[in-house]
Amino acid sequence: MNEVPLLAANDLDMPALGFGTFQLDEETVKAILPEAFEAGYRHVDTAQVYGNESAVGHALATSGLARKDVFLTTKVWIDRYDPEDLLNSVRESLERLQTDYVDLLLLHWPVFGRNGMNPTLESLMRACADGLTRHVGISNFNIDQTQQAVSFCGEGVLATNQVEYHVYLGQQRLRRVLGRHNLVLTAYMPLAKARCVNDPVLWEIGSQYGKTAAQVALRWLTEQDRVAAIPATSNPHHARANIDIFNFSLSDEDRARIGKLDKHHRICAPEDLSPEWDD
Ligand SMILES: NC(=O)c1ccc[n+]([C@@H]2O[C@H](COP(=O)([O-])OP(=O)(O)OC[C@H]3O[C@@H](n4cnc5c(N)ncnc54)[C@H](OP(=O)(O)O)[C@@H]3O)[C@@H](O)[C@H]2O)c1
Repeated sequence: MNEVPLLAANDLDMPALGFGTFQLDEETVKAILPEAFEAGYRHVDTAQVYGNESAVGHALATSGLARKDVFLTTKVWIDRYDPEDLLNSVRESLERLQTDYVDLLLLHWPVFGRNGMNPTLESLMRACADGLTRHVGISNFNIDQTQQAVSFCGEGVLATNQVEYHVYLGQQRLRRVLGRHNLVLTAYMPLAKARCVNDPVLWEIGSQYGKTAAQVALRWLTEQDRVAAIPATSNPHHARANIDIFNFSLSDEDRARIGKLDKHHRICAPEDLSPEWDD
């Protein structure tokens, strides 16, 4: 079984590699998560809007794993941001997930009403104080919004900003700001939605180590300080391959070549949800 290192930031005991579940329906989640646990994944990323929290809960409950041994993230959808409703929505998530708490609770997108983000952040922190989650964070916040959120919540309160990050989207400016506030960057779409799995440069680099392009892309992310990656797959072979990355290291030269692949290429930018992006 593969051992995944933990990140060490803000007391966040989060494995640096997690299992993403976006666009995986309940049947697929029930089939693939046991394979993922078997392969060594101990970090699962879901969201209210994915419609698969019940299947994640089922897979966890039947896994034989102790609850404390799996790092579980969910995200509050934007239509539950009203402060009272946010807490109700989290309780509903916990029921579906068959647990008393999640490890990390995120605001899924920075879409706020007339009163701005503060009342929702207040309620997010309340969820933590009430024991519904161990950590809180944000997702898809741009630099300005991240700074606003940190300044409202206080340094050290927000654990992560989960954003799109992969070899084709370098996120240099945001990374600097997250580093300054000691926030983890949780990289979603770490395989650029499979667009990088045939990249010739990544294949060439991987050939030195007997690894695939996808494995190089994930290793590149997880070798970085305070970066976690959460690739998704419905394929057990891919699930096993994606976690088999902690037995090799990239060289400075490899990293320099990968750095040149950055095309500021953003895949996930829904018009009705996206902030003004920084790149
Ligand atoms: N916060 C947010 O707004 C947000 C947005 C998007 C995603 N996310 C999170 O991030 C996770 C990952 O993002 P994602 O699922 O959109 O994209 P991704 O992980 O970059 O790519 C998933 C795609 O890559 C393929 N794949 C996976 N491993 C592979 C391998 N070893 N070789 C070849 N192909 C491979 C998968 O197909 P197969 O099934 O065939 O392997 C699937 O088509 C999501 O599941 C979700 O948890 C969060």
